[in-house]
Amino acid sequence: METIFKHRSIRRYKPDAIPENILDRILEAATRASTTGNMQLYSIVVSTDPKVKQALSPCHFNQPMVTEAPVVMTFCADIHRFDLWCEQRGAEPGYDNFLWFVNGAIDALLASQNAVLEAETHGLGICYLGTTTYTADKIVEILRLPKGVIPVTTVVMGYPTDCPPLTDRLPVEAVVHRDTYHDYTPEAIDRLWAERENSDETKRLLAENGLPNLARIFTERRYRKEDNVQFSRTYLDLLRKQGFMKQ
Ligand SMILES: Cc1cc2nc3c(=O)[nH]c(=O)nc-3n(C[C@H](O)[C@H](O)[C@H](O)COP(=O)(O)O)c2cc1C
Repeated sequence: METIFKHRSIRRYKPDAIPENILDRILEAATRASTTGNMQLYSIVVSTDPKVKQALSPCHFNQPMVTEAPVVMTFCADIHRFDLWCEQRGAEPGYDNFLWFVNGAIDALLASQNAVLEAETHGLGICYLGTTTYTADKIVEILRLPKGVIPVTTVVMGYPTDCPPLTDRLPVEAVVHRDTYHDYTPEAIDRLWAERENSDETKRLLAENGLPNLARIFTERRYRKEDNVQFSRTYLDLLRKQGFMKQ
């Protein structure tokens, strides 16, 4: 529990390797996560070879932590292994569709968070990389992922050089709905975002970006519509290519 409440993303790493016994334990923890029908519809590609990490770096927009951190884990939705087993047993698999991409993605993400928590209990730092879905087509080639396997997220892992401050969160009431969904009034939206909007960090970001509010930093700087549309198209194309969209 303490681990959960101390979590912060780590973006600077010492070069020290993660001892094999700790890495094994992290990967074992990943496999203890719940999965759809206990089918374990995911694979984890653990990259420690500097050449592989270097090749992955542009896929993650050259964020320095990809080459700095000793371990890069790419979590993939994977129906391939299960299909092979079915076919080898004369069973007809029916998993080449969008539903089973979603199931595989859920399994991969639950496994990733188990790995993250286990890593953090060993004093390691982690950072998720959302760039994975933007450039998944290139990652497929670098990691030689067969049909039926698609990257969902990446986690870099290693010993932190520093301990950044905890980041803020919206109040718990912002994300919790009792019994049924309660929609937000404009006043509620103002109240829920008030602390974040008035923080020193937000003031600094607004000055730096020359924008009048935090929402516009998201829509005009961080996650722009034109990029989102482009990355969506690339990922949908890849889903088709990897055989997840036959139906
Ligand atoms: C799916 C996902 C993708 C992320 N991608 C990136 C990334 O590409 N680069 C980065 O520096 N942080 C990334 N993060 C980290 C978030 O920015 C971070 O979790 C968030 O700001 C909250 O901060 P905290 O993790 O320190 O509490 C990602 C987090 C998630 C869950």
